Amino acid sequence: MDADMMANTITVELAERSYDIVIGDGVLTSIGERIALNFPGSRAVIVTDETVDALHGETVRGSCAFAGVETETVSVAAGESSKSYATLETVVEGILDAGMERGDVLLALGGGVVGDLAGFAAGIVRRGMPFIQLPTSLLAQVDSSVGGKTGINSPHGKNLVGLFNQPRLVLADTAVLDTLSEREMRAGYAEVAKYGLIDQPEFFSWLEDNHAAVFAGGEARAHAVATSCKAKAEVVKADEHEHGSRALLNLGHTFGHAFEAAVGYDATRLVHGEGVSIGMVMALEFSNRLNHCGPEVAERAEAHLRAVGLPTRISQIPGHEAFTTERLMDAIAQDKKVSRGALTFILARGIGESFVANDVPADAVRSHLDAALTL
Ligand code: GLY
Repeated sequence: MDADMMANTITVELAERSYDIVIGDGVLTSIGERIALNFPGSRAVIVTDETVDALHGETVRGSCAFAGVETETVSVAAGESSKSYATLETVVEGILDAGMERGDVLLALGGGVVGDLAGFAAGIVRRGMPFIQLPTSLLAQVDSSVGGKTGINSPHGKNLVGLFNQPRLVLADTAVLDTLSEREMRAGYAEVAKYGLIDQPEFFSWLEDNHAAVFAGGEARAHAVATSCKAKAEVVKADEHEHGSRALLNLGHTFGHAFEAAVGYDATRLVHGEGVSIGMVMALEFSNRLNHCGPEVAERAEAHLRAVGLPTRISQIPGHEAFTTERLMDAIAQDKKVSRGALTFILARGIGESFVANDVPADAVRSHLDAALTL
């Protein structure tokens, strides 16, 4: 298979639920052959959104047809609003209308929204059917398609309804990232940098030197995606259901989610990766405030995130003037990572030396927010 010659394969080791992540330019074209080989006789239902369907649907359908795999497509509206009960019903009923059976395969073709929604549908339709993640955004390739978190949003908050449901395969075609906007690429890049900040200091240094090449595409981009997936695979292997160390993947996310909530999840003002970028700098400055590291750690992280064009300060969020410490604290308190009233934060002792801190005093968080809002 030509695509495989250029591909990098990483295995997420989870005993009988282990699976491969295949990364490289053009690997999407191998999907039909892989289904025919691994799920002989199966049909496939492609769950996607209208934007991605127009860009990449034919590649997947063509590959499947070439390999003799019959497909049906269920397409939803693009955007976060599709992570809803209503759209879940549309997807589940679409799969059943298409006559899919338990042994057939669901292909989640799209970014994080589609991956989370379709992965959840795959877990509940006919009590579970196998699914393959075909992530088309950088964020989905390096984060949401790997590790089995699936679900939808509730009026109570984001990602509150769902399942841990591991895919059978992830095919991350790094060439499809050429169709992303600069802003989407940058937002996904925040999660790439996150792995360096968590526990990959050499990767962080490599990113400082090579970020322009990562954005340009080709080998450097594939290397960044593969290193990120490898880092995530290790974390997931150690703590699949987030009883402890998987929370490291939330570096910057508690603050970031609070900013997303404060703008009412208005993506024109702030997208997830931008919130994570600002949140990571805040988490590292918070680590300094709590005497876990010196100020140079946040300064170095901020310099890199700024160099790729990511926002790093609350003052860069349109409408930030309306933010207050209490409003942000309310959002933090509602975050699902708050456990029995205690605040859990991911802090750091240095670049690539992050750790999970339970029982962080709410007053310290308040003071930090007070200070950050005046910058
Ligand atoms: N995106 C965080 C996780 O997969 O645990």
